[in-house]
This record gives sequence, structure tokens and C-alpha cells, in this order.
Amino acid sequence: MENRPATARRVAPRLQAPGTGTASFRPLAELGQLPPGAMLRVTVGDLDILLANTTGGIVATDDRCPHMSAPLSIGQLDGCVVACPLHNGRFDLCTGDTVQFPTTGGLDAEGVYHPSWSVPGSPAKPEPPGLKAQARALTRVRRMRYYPVRLVGDSIEVALPR
Ligand code: FES
Repeated sequence: MENRPATARRVAPRLQAPGTGTASFRPLAELGQLPPGAMLRVTVGDLDILLANTTGGIVATDDRCPHMSAPLSIGQLDGCVVACPLHNGRFDLCTGDTVQFPTTGGLDAEGVYHPSWSVPGSPAKPEPPGLKAQARALTRVRRMRYYPVRLVGDSIEVALPR
């Protein structure tokens, strides 16, 4: 297992979730629950939060893939990059960038279209007919939104909007 001190990652202000600027911090987990390389889903009210201990520090974001909302907490974390279990999208949790577009294709955060693709070595999937194809093509991978994190002793605290 990696042995590095826990840190909270600061993300760019433009990536912070609305309402977090004035939100108060609340303890969501203990450091012992989130060793390096681990991910944890914490539900607060109607928010499902993903805590991830990446090589760039601990981040808190929605436990919803920015593509079609699958829970990233059951994906694979490698360094800063999480692989979504649903359509093979890969997202950098340290920067919010899309590393690999979902297999279904669609629009990126800028609204630029990306075609569908198949995982190398697996047979190409036929495009679904009609409205399904249109829905896939028009689905936009949204920008990731982050909740500020701070470490207080062994406690991981996150600022959540009310
Ligand atoms: S829901 Fe995550 S890549 Fe599609």
C-alpha cells in the first residue's frame, strides 16, 4: 500500500459546486476509512458524495458520472483517474478533465460531438435505433463539480450547500 501523508486537494474555483463558497464544513469520514487509492460514497440528504484519496490529494465530488450518472465509487481509481463502470469513460478527479470519452459517444462539456467507439478487442456494438441513438448523441458530459475538503485531525470535512 502507498504510504503518503493525506492532503486535501484544492480545485479551481470555477469547478466548485454552487453554494459551497459560503457553506460550512461537516465531517463526512475518518481518514482510516479512506486510505490512499480508495474511494468512498457518503450520502447526505439527497446528495451522494464521492470521497477519493487520489495521488493528488483527497477530493469530494458527486458520486455521479458526469456522463450518465453511474456511481463512480464502484469504478476503478488509478492515481487521479477514475474509470466509470458503465461506458468506460475515464475522468481525472484532480482536474475534472475527461481522459477517455464514454463508448457511447456524445457531446463533451464544450458541446463538441464525439463518435461512439468500442473497447479494443471487443466487437463493435451496433448503434441503437432511432431516439436512443439521438439521445446518446445529444448527451453531454457535464463538468465535474467539487466540494471543498479540509482535514481536521483524522476527520475529513467537506463543505456542502444546505
Ligand atoms: S455513465 Fe459513466 S461513462 Fe457513461
